[in-house]
Amino acid sequence: MNLKLLNGAEIPAVGLGVWQVEDGAQTEQAVSAALEAGYRLIDTAQGYGNEVSVGKAIRDSGIPREEIFLTTKFDPNRDDSFTEAQKSLERLGTDYVDLYLVHWPQGGPTRAWAGMEKASAAGLAKGIGVSNFSAAELAELAKVSEVPAAVNQVYFSPFAYRRGLLDASNKVGLVTQAYSPLGTGDHLTDPVVGRIAAELGRTPAQVLIRWGVQKGMSVIPKSTHRERIEQNFAVFDFELDDATVAALDGLDTTGGTAEAREDKWW
Ligand code: A2P
Repeated sequence: MNLKLLNGAEIPAVGLGVWQVEDGAQTEQAVSAALEAGYRLIDTAQGYGNEVSVGKAIRDSGIPREEIFLTTKFDPNRDDSFTEAQKSLERLGTDYVDLYLVHWPQGGPTRAWAGMEKASAAGLAKGIGVSNFSAAELAELAKVSEVPAAVNQVYFSPFAYRRGLLDASNKVGLVTQAYSPLGTGDHLTDPVVGRIAAELGRTPAQVLIRWGVQKGMSVIPKSTHRERIEQNFAVFDFELDDATVAALDGLDTTGGTAEAREDKWW
């Protein structure tokens, strides 16, 4: 299942995130397992330090590059997003990424955008977007951008259900992508999620990922275990009914804010 982006491209509804996955064998194995399980979206970042292994696993898979949606991110501690895009591509061993994101709005939401647009114009990135941006920051960026941000990747789950942010993004066709949809694993032991999973004969991870998919987001759970990677992708053969979605919505602890996250580190 795919979602349509503002640049006309399609992005898979579920992908593998490799934040905190070690460079080398661990990343290669996770990406290989994901591609074998049917994933076609891999999400990395300059700051994760594992682009080399992501690129190697993609090449080794034998799957044509154009069938895989590859995302990386500009580390805003660096100066120039265009130059950093070139370096990321070298590490990834590919000519382009499908999506290049500003990792967080350090220095202001518009600071890196000219370089992002240059990367887009030069064909280094088919799509450009942001991560960890609030609705106010998205609006500020929209005022100066010639190429609009296609994606905002944020910390999102039923427990961090930022309705204000999702609604504002949906209004302008900007796709929200949910990272840490399992709350970095913390939400898997929640009793409400557990009860729903038991009733449906699914796992808590599948319930949380499915919730994100039904909210119209692209969801990128992280795992380094093959069986979990497979499990997290097996979310297209069941549906949460309205009452179940409402029960999950009720787990929100953010008050439906339009903020990107409450614990900003930048
Ligand atoms: P591991 O990588 O050891 O499999 P998030 O995507 O919210 O950041 O969550 C990632 C965390 O959840 C990791 O610690 C990961 O552990 C764990 N995890 C991912 N998928 C599953 C699953 N299906 N069942 C149990 N734990 C999972």
